Amino acid sequence: MCGIIGYTGEGNAVPKMTKGLTVLEYRGYDSVGIAAETEDAIEVVKCKGRITSLEEKLEKHPIEGAHCAIGHTRWATHGGPSDVNAHPHKAGNVVLVHNGIIENYKELKDELSKTGTPFLSETDTEVAAATLNACYRPGSDPVKAIREATAKMKGSYAFGILFVDLPGEIYAIRQGSPLILAKGEDGYYLASDMTALLPFTKTYYPLKEGQIAHLTPDSGTLVAGDGRVFEPQWKKTEMTPESAQKGGYEHFMLKEIYEQPEAIVKSASTRITKDGLPDFSVDGILPDFWKPVKNIQIVACGSAMHAGIVGAKLFEEVAKIPASVYIASEYRYHPPLAVEGTIVIPISQSGETADTLAAMNYAKSKGLPTVAIVNAVETTIAREADHRVYTYAGPEIAVATTKGYCTQVSVLFMMAAAAAHACGRISDDEAKALVQSVVKDAPAAVLSMLEKRDYLRELARGLAGKEHIFYIGRGLDYALSMEAALKLKEISYIHCEAYAAGELKHGTISLIEEGTPVIAISTEKALYDKTESNVREVRSRGAKLILICRADAENPERSADSVIYLPINSLAATLFAAMTAVQTIAYETAYLCGCDIDRPRNLAKSVTVE
Ligand code: F6R
Repeated sequence: MCGIIGYTGEGNAVPKMTKGLTVLEYRGYDSVGIAAETEDAIEVVKCKGRITSLEEKLEKHPIEGAHCAIGHTRWATHGGPSDVNAHPHKAGNVVLVHNGIIENYKELKDELSKTGTPFLSETDTEVAAATLNACYRPGSDPVKAIREATAKMKGSYAFGILFVDLPGEIYAIRQGSPLILAKGEDGYYLASDMTALLPFTKTYYPLKEGQIAHLTPDSGTLVAGDGRVFEPQWKKTEMTPESAQKGGYEHFMLKEIYEQPEAIVKSASTRITKDGLPDFSVDGILPDFWKPVKNIQIVACGSAMHAGIVGAKLFEEVAKIPASVYIASEYRYHPPLAVEGTIVIPISQSGETADTLAAMNYAKSKGLPTVAIVNAVETTIAREADHRVYTYAGPEIAVATTKGYCTQVSVLFMMAAAAAHACGRISDDEAKALVQSVVKDAPAAVLSMLEKRDYLRELARGLAGKEHIFYIGRGLDYALSMEAALKLKEISYIHCEAYAAGELKHGTISLIEEGTPVIAISTEKALYDKTESNVREVRSRGAKLILICRADAENPERSADSVIYLPINSLAATLFAAMTAVQTIAYETAYLCGCDIDRPRNLAKSVTVE
């Protein structure tokens, strides 16, 4: 949560701040601010609201001639969204921006209050600024002060720091929250995420925990824990500025839905041998890795957890390996028993989700091998897992995930096939067919569903404005229903629940009344008749029924008000088409409801607090 940016160099710092913060808005968007150095002072401009509110403020009170600045876009944790709680926070000689949570801020605040330190806001960040200020005197060693102050703090942080007496210099440090340094032609940068810096440079370095970054207009150096000063090993990103722009689409979410075919191919194609077999050697996972695996525990949150449920079913059905899925925030507190041969698969688009990271670290502390499925490269979960498997979806900007989830499922398909083949549970031909179904059928199925967008929009008209909607399905379709319901409710604010189709009659069916929309998903031929019975049960109680089913279903019109037909050439084709249908329905419904699709209320893209 929260996005940080910083710049020092020859260029005009303020427009760089607003440009970068606009990209970082996905990390939080309830308040925003910058601190920019002018000839005489550090000027802080901040407000509740979005970047546009900040820009309006800056238009009225422009900051001229600033070549060094830090900026922040916030997702409130301690203290609600307000002008005063917005970052940056100033305490004496220190001005800073922060992403994370200082867990012991109350004790630190009490201690500082005793010595007369005043506090204006309710935030833990102001306490962090005051703690650092108490360790620093103009002329003293800033690195020493930062070490001393952060040693007192418990929790997670990424700080961008200005000292009043050190013009043109930015210091940074992180623990548990991400921070990237970058080197441009006109100076040095700092950001929570490289996408914010793509308009300025491609040269970056992910700051490691324990390192302190020191940026000046013409140098970017690191100070190690032992005091050694050295140059970062700069890397080049392959991302382009276009990848973080809407490219003609009205919303990032829509763009990202349309990017799915390409993303599926990218996620799968690097994991295929020249003979067409699934192979994760490129990720350091050789076929022998799977042989001793007796149990798989998947840990993730939200949509990534829903992808995990699909994955667990595939591991069990295809590879015959018992697999379970755990909500990451629950895993540590009620850890499941781990038999010999257990591996843990954390799944995370952002690679920074605090709950998933904590679950993964718990698993590691118990000696369990971890194989993380991550999209954002070089992120904490990717770095700290024993093995990392990137999904290659590219930057995902919309808060509601689509291509991130889609590529998690495609990687899990490939992984289940690789494990099954390595353990001799499927033949070469079966493994090759599964691979082909992911790289060929799935992208084509997504495209074929997107061709039906007008029809899906028509169906959305019957959903927009409703108070309650239900998704039902069995097996894999129940897993997909959970994702479908989450997608719909998070962006349209319509209450939507997913039920195992057979479970509805055990209580929840009492909520069905005349006109209640129910969307039934039926991708598995063997389960069609059973799901159809459940469809009839709710329809006879007044439900308005949309049925998403295989094209070979027998006469589905007789049990539904509307039908969405799915391709049937393979399980992957059917599943990915259904996935695209529910994503598009969510998008179109939210659109008709006039919602802020890319920035739904109360949410943030990257949830770096527990
Ligand atoms: C919903 C959504 C969230 C994320 C969850 C985990 O559309 O995006 O439910 O899936 O917060 O995020 P990652 O995958 O970044 O760990």
